[in-house]
Amino acid sequence: ELHRELSGIVAMEQQLKEMFGIARVIIVTGDADQDMTVKQQLGKEAAQMLQQLAKGKDQIAVTGGSSVASMKEYLTANTVLSDANFIAARGGMGDEMTFQANTVVSKFAKRCGAKYRTLFLPEHLSEQAYEAMKDEPIIKEMIELYEQVDIVVHGIGAAQEMALRRNSTYEEQQLLEQKGAVAEAFGYYFNKNGDIVHHLRTIGIQLEHVNKAQHVIAIAAGSNKAVAIQAYFKNAVKQTILITDEQTANTILER
Ligand code: F6P
Repeated sequence: ELHRELSGIVAMEQQLKEMFGIARVIIVTGDADQDMTVKQQLGKEAAQMLQQLAKGKDQIAVTGGSSVASMKEYLTANTVLSDANFIAARGGMGDEMTFQANTVVSKFAKRCGAKYRTLFLPEHLSEQAYEAMKDEPIIKEMIELYEQVDIVVHGIGAAQEMALRRNSTYEEQQLLEQKGAVAEAFGYYFNKNGDIVHHLRTIGIQLEHVNKAQHVIAIAAGSNKAVAIQAYFKNAVKQTILITDEQTANTILER
């Protein structure tokens, strides 16, 4: 803690927290772009935070992505998390298997000895398919769970990078560019003012559910994400705790 104090990290956490108007910011030392172990540190902090915040029978919605997935090793059984229910925040299978929400929740639940819920759907649904799906009992159940979510754990990505990762069509990529999308989180795309400019038509947690959650943990770092993080937090859910790294924090604060 003394080291963090001396190196100015504590002051940076405070500055970022005020700048974004959120609950808390935790900065780990180093640069995730340069050093693979930094992502593990992000995961460790996030896992500890989740353990602290959980109260017992929590419904915890979790997104995919490598940053969130890095929490896995630091989650342990015989904690309050053993009574939790880990819910895949999105049904889409756009991500690489290891990092998609469905895989991540099953791994988290195994680590904690907890329950989990998955939902496997194509990432891009046509309007008809989406409308038809919404009334399926299994989907309704999932939406009911989203409505009761206590804690949300999510990643944040750069918009164009996410569109590529999701194999979005050329038209969709063009559309995102035209709309000035720079950030992405839980299926929503945001412009540099933090306004939603696009939303994926897939079954998943909605912003209104995230808004209602008691706690939100966001894990994101990397110089390629600085713009995205800054944009997303223009309008982000106030109860968010951001976990990032020193290099990203420096980049944001120097702007
Ligand atoms: O696809 C799930 C997701 O959480 C996105 O919403 C987010 O933009 C991305 O993953 C972050 O991924 P990573 O942590 O691998 O950069």
